[in-house]
Amino acid sequence: MNMKDVLRGKLTEDELKRVPRAFDVIGDVAIIEIPFELKKKRKLIAEALMKVNRHVKTVCDKYGERSGDYRLNSLEVIAGGSTLTEHRENGCRFRVDVVKAYFSPRESTERVRIAKMIKPGEDVLVMFSGVCPSPVVYAKLQPGLHKAYGVELNPEAHKFALENVRLNRMQTKVVPVLGNVKEVCPRIGIKFDRITMPLPKGAHEFLDTVFEVAKKGGIVHFYHYDREDDLYGKAVEYIEKAAEKAHKKVEILDKRKVLPYGPRIWKVCVEFRVLD
Ligand SMILES: C[S@@+](CC[C@H](N)C(=O)[O-])C[C@H]1O[C@@H](n2cnc3c(N)ncnc32)[C@H](O)[C@@H]1O
Repeated sequence: MNMKDVLRGKLTEDELKRVPRAFDVIGDVAIIEIPFELKKKRKLIAEALMKVNRHVKTVCDKYGERSGDYRLNSLEVIAGGSTLTEHRENGCRFRVDVVKAYFSPRESTERVRIAKMIKPGEDVLVMFSGVCPSPVVYAKLQPGLHKAYGVELNPEAHKFALENVRLNRMQTKVVPVLGNVKEVCPRIGIKFDRITMPLPKGAHEFLDTVFEVAKKGGIVHFYHYDREDDLYGKAVEYIEKAAEKAHKKVEILDKRKVLPYGPRIWKVCVEFRVLD
């Protein structure tokens, strides 16, 4: 039985066609974008979702885009209660309140892809690390890494990051740091073998910091949103301009689509090596 089967008879055929097929599940919280025309029926939709997905205890309506520096979702609870949950991914556990901190289960595959590239002994920096899923997954899948630092601006996300490091027993490997990437990264006092920049809206503004803290030969994973007709042009331009400003040379190693973001818009990753 699917959601539409449960809703048949309660919604018109036209309304049934508009019920979203996809939604995110973080732990036991489901996040669904209910179209404007169905807002009056959202309670019924949430109940149907919970009936078909027995492990879901809370359903939130996502009524707007992510916003603000903390990239928080605009959510309203429409069934159940608590937005604090524990999500399992890649053999790790992540506690998060989906209203107070960023977390996306859709990034799971990308976390694994990067983890598989990390070599033993590497010092890794995750800028914009949220509740620390990336550093923890990297350390879990590549136990030989030396240390993974996660730098995050949102104090609520940082609190969960500290909790998640303990929960996954990664205290000797993962170091969550609270603060603005620009100020905090140079103060950590080490140079990194690998840096990830998972802030597709605006990561380019932090490339100057990358050049400050990357080792010679270090690898950077730069994320960016762009349109299908020119996915990588702007990203490469940002990287080359920032490198020139920092008097560094770079070698582009890879360009790839990561996830669809909107109609003909993709999140992409451009990987580059800092030469000197
Ligand atoms: C797109 S989310 C990615 C979070 C995390 N990497 C993940 O996958 O769950 C971006 C995160 O960057 C944080 N952030 C935004 N600007 C920042 C800055 N200048 N310094 C540190 N963190 C920042 C936000 O609070 C948010 O948690």
